[in-house]
Amino acid sequence: MKKRYLVTAALPYANGPLHIGHLAGAYLPADIYVRYLRLKGKDVVFVCGSDEHGAAITVKARKEGTTPREIVDKYHTILKDTFEKIGIAFDIYHRTSEPIHHATSQDFFRKLYEKGEFIEETTDQYYDETVGQFLADRYIVGTCPVCANPDAYGDQCEKCGSTLSPTDLIHPKSMLSGSVPVKRPTKHWFLRLDQHEKWLREWINTGKAGGKTRHDPANWKNHVLGQCNSWLDQGLQPRAMTRDLEWGVDVPPEIPGSEGKKLYVWLDAPIGYISATKQWALDHGKNWELYWKSEDTSLVHFIGKDNIVFHCLIFPAILKAHGDFILPVNVPANQFLNLEGRKLSTSKNWAVWVHEYCAEFEGQEDVLRYNMIKKMPEQSDSEFTWKGFQETNNNELVNNLANFVNRVLVLSHKFYGGIVPSVNTELVFKSGWEPDKTGQYNEELAILHHKLEEMGTEIEHFNFREALRVVMEISSAGNALLQFNEPWKTVNTNAETVQVVMNLALQYVAVLSVAIRPFLPFSADRLRNMLNLSPVRDNGDLLDLLNELVEGNPVVQPNHALGVSQHLFSRIPDEVIQRQIDKLAATDSANQNADSNEQPSIQYTPVKETIQYDDFAKIDIRTGTILSAEKVEKSKKLLKLEVDLGFETRTILSGIAEHYPPEEVVGKQVIVLANLAPRMMMGTESQGMILLAENSEGKLSFVSPTEGWQNGMGVN
Ligand code: MF3
Ligand code: ZN
Repeated sequence: MKKRYLVTAALPYANGPLHIGHLAGAYLPADIYVRYLRLKGKDVVFVCGSDEHGAAITVKARKEGTTPREIVDKYHTILKDTFEKIGIAFDIYHRTSEPIHHATSQDFFRKLYEKGEFIEETTDQYYDETVGQFLADRYIVGTCPVCANPDAYGDQCEKCGSTLSPTDLIHPKSMLSGSVPVKRPTKHWFLRLDQHEKWLREWINTGKAGGKTRHDPANWKNHVLGQCNSWLDQGLQPRAMTRDLEWGVDVPPEIPGSEGKKLYVWLDAPIGYISATKQWALDHGKNWELYWKSEDTSLVHFIGKDNIVFHCLIFPAILKAHGDFILPVNVPANQFLNLEGRKLSTSKNWAVWVHEYCAEFEGQEDVLRYNMIKKMPEQSDSEFTWKGFQETNNNELVNNLANFVNRVLVLSHKFYGGIVPSVNTELVFKSGWEPDKTGQYNEELAILHHKLEEMGTEIEHFNFREALRVVMEISSAGNALLQFNEPWKTVNTNAETVQVVMNLALQYVAVLSVAIRPFLPFSADRLRNMLNLSPVRDNGDLLDLLNELVEGNPVVQPNHALGVSQHLFSRIPDEVIQRQIDKLAATDSANQNADSNEQPSIQYTPVKETIQYDDFAKIDIRTGTILSAEKVEKSKKLLKLEVDLGFETRTILSGIAEHYPPEEVVGKQVIVLANLAPRMMMGTESQGMILLAENSEGKLSFVSPTEGWQNGMGVN
């Protein structure tokens, strides 16, 4: 373990509140990790803040008919407050609209500019003429070229996850006006990611960079390595680091051509981690550079999987290009959490909002935390359901943890007036760890020591679900200890042994009061109160505990007076859960109504495989006029047409009878595929094909030349 830690959690966009997916994805794992490091006495700084730039903000402002400033102020406050309520213990929750951040990111840009890391290039970008703005990123929507999702953004398709650029979109449309954009040239600065590809590949896969080993790839999650390598395998391209926008960090004004240009949000946002650290250092009289520039520091980024490339390739390239910075030792990204079988969606309001949870379940913040950890999408996507939430609460938090704590405290008050009994360490009793195994006081303390170490190892490897399971094992073993020894039956007949068992059970509770602290901080504090022990100090309390246990010493001393027992958790009744389920159902039906009012989204058929001009040149298409039309007997679909091609008249059978009555098509000018091999249909030879357009509902439309056009002319 290194000397110092800088832990970051993805800066959430200040364009909406926090939902459980965010919590389980980045903030909770980061919080557990940090709280654990603090318990071990490590020097750790945990930074986060609101991401207040980018199209995410300005598009939202436009939608709500307000200014970006109002949007970020509103959501920054909500986010900050929500993090506090749910117990995410940042050292600083900063914001990217702060002047210190603008200055820091401009300095970065300057440095990279001076080092020749950019190429300046003028390219054609989409432009919305009706509002007079270039359309980068989320300002433009269209059909995804990969999966045909009609609502893909200019930077990403949310359906298939592909990273896109606006020019990839089929049928691009301005998000601002709905109009079809035109292309206009504009100049931008592109980071030469291609020049960083080689070292990035080596660094990601071997941990080595600049001749030094910086991480062990065996500790990186497979899905993170996989995503990085799939990017690297496609080859890194120069990527624009500036935008034509009005809201954001200005390109440093002394740089020629900087007017009207802003930094790309994915350049400035990660630098937000650095400016947050600077602000924290200023506030606390510390040196921020130690956390970003010393090889003794472990930099760890907690994020969701949609942020992987930015944290594993682009930001490291920026840090390396700058030259003075360390690289992350790990980026333990999580996958996605689903809600009741569906993807969480802010726009569809398909979410459990953390601030709403905190208001409706006041005092039960840890119940959500516990559930989120149990369902943490560490290796693959996972799922939250309200029924599952209830079951987990009732079966694990109430029946196991709260029940154990309550039994121990109630019995201690009953047997000993709330005074911790002394022990004869020679006595044996039934151990709670295995049925039929006997236990002995010091040995059992050693097992607790071992369990705490196990928990720590899991946390250090970002296996938070497993770490929590180990903690809950302590509680289960505590329950079993009581169950096997039945002190309530033997307190009079075997008083000395019961004293040992009860004292030991109290040690379990005391160990739990520290062990649950990273996961369930509010309950840890409550538990300390019940034990009449001072609250867990973040600085090194776990170390102290480990030191005592490994020496075979108890952690609550005989004769210590305990506090009053309260219920740590209580059962959640069906009505409460039903209310939440009903709330989601209401959202669902509101969405369905909205959908049915909307134009159905069009499913475009993917474009067929590319052909060469020679293939096309074989096709002979001519103009013609329908001279006569009649129904073909016994056929519902076919009309028999005589078509004038100028140089000759053809008989053509066309499948349009269900769309057009014969009299309506006579005299129509049409386009004819003239060299299609003749084919017998219903006893008549068809000598060509009339071309028609078909829309998404299956309606047909003739494709016609200008009125009065000569027959038999070529169409190319
Ligand atoms: N705001 C981004 C998102 O919500 C995350 C930014 S992370 C940072 O996806 F590195 F850029 F800060
Ligand atoms: Zn797609």
